[in-house]
Amino acid sequence: MNIPESHIITIFGASGDLTKRKLLPALFSLFKQDLLPKEFKILGVGRTDFSDELFRKNFITWLDGEEKDVEPFLNKLFYQKIDTGKVDDYELVKSKLNELREGTGIPENYIYYLSTPPGLYELVAKGLEKANITADVEGESWKRIIIEKPFGIDLASAKKLNKNLLNYFSEDQIYRIDHYLGKETVQNVLVTRFGNGIFEPLWNRNYIHHVEVTSSEELGVGTRGGYYDNSGALRDMVQNHLLQLVGLVAMEPPIHAESKAIRNEVLKVFQSLRPIKEEEVPKYVIRGQYTGSTVKGECLTGYRYEQGVPNDSRTESYLAMKFFIDNWRWKDVPFYIRTGKRLPTRVTEIVIHFKKSPHHIFSHDDLTINAHNQLVIRVQPDEGLLFKFSMKVPGAGFNTKTANMDFHYSDLNDDHIPEAYERLLLDCMQGDSTLYIRGDAVEEAWAFVQPIINAWKNNPEIPVYGYPAGSWGPAHADTLIEEPEITWRYPCKNLSNDGEYCEL
Ligand SMILES: NC(=O)c1ccc[n+]([C@@H]2O[C@H](COP(=O)([O-])OP(=O)(O)OC[C@H]3O[C@@H](n4cnc5c(N)ncnc54)[C@H](OP(=O)(O)O)[C@@H]3O)[C@@H](O)[C@H]2O)c1
Repeated sequence: MNIPESHIITIFGASGDLTKRKLLPALFSLFKQDLLPKEFKILGVGRTDFSDELFRKNFITWLDGEEKDVEPFLNKLFYQKIDTGKVDDYELVKSKLNELREGTGIPENYIYYLSTPPGLYELVAKGLEKANITADVEGESWKRIIIEKPFGIDLASAKKLNKNLLNYFSEDQIYRIDHYLGKETVQNVLVTRFGNGIFEPLWNRNYIHHVEVTSSEELGVGTRGGYYDNSGALRDMVQNHLLQLVGLVAMEPPIHAESKAIRNEVLKVFQSLRPIKEEEVPKYVIRGQYTGSTVKGECLTGYRYEQGVPNDSRTESYLAMKFFIDNWRWKDVPFYIRTGKRLPTRVTEIVIHFKKSPHHIFSHDDLTINAHNQLVIRVQPDEGLLFKFSMKVPGAGFNTKTANMDFHYSDLNDDHIPEAYERLLLDCMQGDSTLYIRGDAVEEAWAFVQPIINAWKNNPEIPVYGYPAGSWGPAHADTLIEEPEITWRYPCKNLSNDGEYCEL
């Protein structure tokens, strides 16, 4: 592992939730693993009136007092108060960065992490440019900017944001984060496919019946109802995380494992997605909202009664869809994806369903496709790979049953599984953008989901199906799957005791 060059990372929005829960813990973990350069500093920026000392004290309280020996890391933490919304205040950031470099060997290598509300992304970039701290100096120093999700709220806004950011930073300097790509198991999709001889020959329409991607959450919207209601599952999960997973599952082999090659192949997948026309949306996309229910004796509130959610909301807390990828490899292989809140468990998994054997010679063969070979890539939790295959039941005759070959990352007991943000921050420090999203891919993904946004906006009569909290979503999602012997894979049973499926 190469240690990155000396630099300073500046976090805008340093008093916020993401900084507290993900960014500083990830940086601290990298520090403890000796993966950061000796000459390295972290500058928090925001409107909150922190001093360096107070910022450090807060970091300790955020750690919950569990950690020892934080002092050397604390010495790397600094803070600059500015009004993030005022372009002229960015001169203060520049002065502080210069001050922090004084007496060190740190060149003007800067990473800017935008952990602010998205409405500020462009303004922060503009402020940095005005302060003249955005340009790379060839052979001397570099600047990089990391942009959090959401990257736009639709195709037009994503295009505008891309265009405007390019006024201040070049595409090579822009790192659009999708933390799913920082997960070990997601990267392992590439190794499973391209590091083994056995899978790739089968990885196509000749042997794969369909592909299923599920990302479910057990929790509801909690206190984030106000934010979530303006977003919904399509924008929050599908346009970014789930389509990125599809990109890795469906891409052609890149010529090498480097940023441009991999990102070119992901882009081609997005360009091959068969467009869903506005009028086809009710057929291919099912949206839902959880309704009040009792789960394990606990009364759970329906989505419309959550804090911050209007009680006539039509925002989807659940979405299931079917689509196709029109290229040589995937022609007519259905892809099914679903995501939702208040489902029975928290799980993200990709399931490759292989075709049945062509001729059944065992009388007890289970003929449902679900009983045939599946490769389950478990992204979270309990990261690993599961392969399901038929075996003979011991004894007389040829009775068959499904057995599992199961690999859990946790079995590699000497290995630390890095948090997604650790991996992604380290990659950016090393100038490796492979696991970040390129501007053109963001736009293609938005172009694919835009007709769904339009259809829901223009046709409010398209149903929002209710589903009891703790169930696997609206029964109508089953209608996406037209073949009677196929169902969604259920990683665990419905937990809801009451509530019939109903249409809202
Ligand atoms: N939290 C997560 O788990 C998560 C996950 C994925 C993506 N994200 C994205 O990451 C970014 C940060 O998320 P977050 O949850 O940390 O957000 P947050 O807590 O709401 O805000 C981060 C910071 O931004 C500053 N800020 C807020 N409103 C502002 C305004 N109107 N003008 C100027 N500054 C303002 C505040 O700092 P000061 O008041 O000190 O300036 C605040 O502490 C967002 O874009 C979010 O979508 C977050």
